[in-house]
Amino acid sequence: MSHWSRAACLDDEIASQAEKVLRDASLRRGNEVIGTIAARDAIEDPLNYDECFVRDFAVSAAAFLAVDEFDVVRSFLRTVAALRPSEVGSATPPADGLMPASFAVARHDGADGSDDDRLVADYGQRAIGRVAPVDSALWWILIVRAYVRASGDAEFVRDEVVQAALERVLAFYLREQFEMLPSLLVPDGSSMIDRRMGVYGHPFDVQALFFVGLRAASELLGEDDPLRERVFERLVALGRHLRDDYWLDRARIETIRRYPVEEFGEAQRNPWNLHPDAIPVWTMAWLAEGGGYFAGNLGPARLDVRFFALGNLLAVSGGLATPAQATALFELIGVHERDLLGDTGMKLTYPPLEGRDWYTLTGSDQKNVPWSYHNGGTWPMLLWPLASAARRAGCHAFVESIVERSAPRLARDEWPEYYDGPYGGLIGRRARLRQTWTAAAMLAAAALLGDPDDPDPFAFEHDDELEAAIAAATPDRVGRVG
Ligand code: GLC
Repeated sequence: MSHWSRAACLDDEIASQAEKVLRDASLRRGNEVIGTIAARDAIEDPLNYDECFVRDFAVSAAAFLAVDEFDVVRSFLRTVAALRPSEVGSATPPADGLMPASFAVARHDGADGSDDDRLVADYGQRAIGRVAPVDSALWWILIVRAYVRASGDAEFVRDEVVQAALERVLAFYLREQFEMLPSLLVPDGSSMIDRRMGVYGHPFDVQALFFVGLRAASELLGEDDPLRERVFERLVALGRHLRDDYWLDRARIETIRRYPVEEFGEAQRNPWNLHPDAIPVWTMAWLAEGGGYFAGNLGPARLDVRFFALGNLLAVSGGLATPAQATALFELIGVHERDLLGDTGMKLTYPPLEGRDWYTLTGSDQKNVPWSYHNGGTWPMLLWPLASAARRAGCHAFVESIVERSAPRLARDEWPEYYDGPYGGLIGRRARLRQTWTAAAMLAAAALLGDPDDPDPFAFEHDDELEAAIAAATPDRVGRVG
């Protein structure tokens, strides 16, 4: 019997199949397992799917930690901590503090007959589209914190390599930029959506991850670490900004629809000069039916009203969403269940970019055609953040039934990377099979839902000090949720 099948909503046989996918994905250096590769699909050209992606490993880590398998997670974290962009060997190496999207083990036969396994990391210098993984280091911090919480190995953070990596990352992520905002300015394709999709500037997915990454960091830093205060100040400003300015619900749409434009000065009602007529009709219809969610992006004359699942779910488990916002989000998911959830996972983004928008914003990307892949495709890996958020929002039973429904389907289809179509019913046209984070998400979600008393090492509890500081920084606004 598989360790994970103690979860009621996961059949023993299916759990064993998922476990096999996860274990077969082991990436070894010598005798040590240091990660999991993204997919083991015999048919397709592997491209970089035979590398260990840092973001994908977060899901593997959630599955391993759920059954107290700590060694592989510790090895992964230390391996990534020791990688340095300067080793890329370029005249313009990536910034120190950037962590790679993925890494591989290259067998190296020395001239003297010796052999040793070397690591080859990709910071974007080899990636399709040469995209920089802004999210990797944030995932890494989150996994460190989850590992420490689950294993109780508090000393791990004092390990010199780990401590130095944490400090490098924070120094880089807290550095001033050409910015007026506490959010991170990020380039296109810099996270799970690692291709052009109009997701640049201040995309919510990355901002939510930044918030939880900073929360994790503030727990990991020593009491007297000078970085602690900077992390806290940024958390407060970021939390205030995201909670207030990205949130969309019926009351907020009513306000935006009546915004004045062309204001100048410090006290503006519409600081981003949003043009009310740019709100699409579907958004008005959606929100009129209740619930709420965090918008996809915010910038000058730009409110991207697309729904991005990962950021919204992380906002709930990371305590960025207030309890009222978390309830409103699950109300929205319930009202629009057919649009957002299928039998196979959750839509990564909704609705898709179509027609001229698709052509211009994706550069005519044939993999991201409407209702496929990142552009309205359905991702089973989202079952894990969905389960984590549902536990936090008290919507456990609703999500349990989704996990129960999708498990046999995913197993039958051999654990596809994503599904296509408005309701996620077709295996993604270019999806990999035996995709590791698909199987790992099923195991991790089932473990979370199976035992609600077992702590979720990736979730964050209410923090009085942080909440009081965010509340003090928040101006009064009529119609705010929670
Ligand atoms: C694709 C996805 C990316 C993922 C990688 C490995 O590139 O867009 O998010 O990390 O595959 O699974």
